[in-house]
Amino acid sequence: MAYRLTVLGTGYLGATHAACMAELGFEVLGLDVDPEKIASLQRGELPIHEPGLEEMLRRNLAAGRLRFTTSYEEAAEFGDVHFVCVGTPQKKGEYAADVSYLDAVVESLAPHLRRECLVVGKSTVPVGTAQRLADKLALLAGPHVELAWNPEFLREGFAVRDTLKPDRLVFGVASERAEKILRDVYTPLGDVPTVVTDFPTAELVKSAANAFLATKISFINAMAEVCEAAHADVKQLSLALSFDERIGGRFLNPGLGFGGGCLPKDIRAFMARAGELGADQALSFLREVDAINMRRRARMVDLARDLVGGSFHTRTVGVLGAAFKPNSDDIRDSPALDVALTIRQEGGAVTVYDPVALNNVRKAHPTLGTADSALTAVRNADVVLLLTEWQEFVDLDPEAIGTVVNTRNIVDGRNALDSEIWRAAHWNYRALGRP
Ligand code: UDX
Repeated sequence: MAYRLTVLGTGYLGATHAACMAELGFEVLGLDVDPEKIASLQRGELPIHEPGLEEMLRRNLAAGRLRFTTSYEEAAEFGDVHFVCVGTPQKKGEYAADVSYLDAVVESLAPHLRRECLVVGKSTVPVGTAQRLADKLALLAGPHVELAWNPEFLREGFAVRDTLKPDRLVFGVASERAEKILRDVYTPLGDVPTVVTDFPTAELVKSAANAFLATKISFINAMAEVCEAAHADVKQLSLALSFDERIGGRFLNPGLGFGGGCLPKDIRAFMARAGELGADQALSFLREVDAINMRRRARMVDLARDLVGGSFHTRTVGVLGAAFKPNSDDIRDSPALDVALTIRQEGGAVTVYDPVALNNVRKAHPTLGTADSALTAVRNADVVLLLTEWQEFVDLDPEAIGTVVNTRNIVDGRNALDSEIWRAAHWNYRALGRP
């Protein structure tokens, strides 16, 4: 049977999932409560920067396989499988996740569900949420509607690839019927390792994966702190570790640490949930992971301040990068932006350039200095900070930018540059965790 799919919530995850499912040949209806977002998607305009996604969106709109709506009634009538992709942000002033958007989806959809269908949660949630929502769904819609949990692991910048070629699929299901539907839906992806399990395990897989990745990054950044104290080189240390197949080199890049809309808030929500369950001791190490990560930002500011003589007053600082990582325009909890704002607060004249995130920076921080090119951002700078490792910055010619700065001082916050080349061009090169 050719299922008709809906995708409820068209943010990063939802927009990607909707376009990719249409690309696989399904008829897809995307829903969001934000009429502006829906109008823009319906025009084929993506509100986010994600390589390959806008083309895919347009192709599938044109083919008639993909449409968007704000009507839950229409979505309920249309869909055999409803994917729930709304956000679960950090609650204000707390570590816990705010799952109210998920409840809102279930409450808005359920009363309109008149025929058999499967509701599939994809959002990252505190363990126990799926069972609670399943009970709510049964109460509001009746026994013909079932819930499944199918966490999503996509990375920004690789969202299309990660959705169409996932490392694994995880199905948290309560029946063979739900498993069969999910297997059918993902058949076009080919042979993907699939773990079929219960709700809480499926929910925990996602939290555990993010906790592990965050821990790996903070581990190498902790090593960077020790390297700094011991005059050792964390880049070479990381390289040497990477050849051990048990360790591996991915997510072992030392630098300014992790940010973005997922890892920071997900590890905090995980700690909060473990606390509610009486298992807080098990995750107390994540507090340290978070602390190491935040210390990298402070260390970056310290290094820059040292280089300009101990104070940012009357100093000009050129900042390269604002997105939380390259190939993204996302500035949520961006380490780069955090550093830029702290330096400005300390009195530095800061100018930021980023290849795609500038619009978002200007919207969120209208008074922060920005420039439309790397060269303009670093003009007359007393120190240049590389904070997001865009390829454009890795390819910079130290001689060319050396002619426009005031002093040849650079801090490589991502260990992305070749220190020898920069030093040979008479730059005072500093990096996190390196001599
Ligand atoms: C992450 C997870 O990878 C993904 O599986 C999950 O679904 C959502 O959260 P994303 O937020 O897109 O994805 O970014 P990711 O590529 O994981 O990078 C997160 C942060 O870690 C970035 O700020 C990046 O700069 C930083 N990072 C990554 C490091 O500092 N060092 C590394 O070695 C790798």
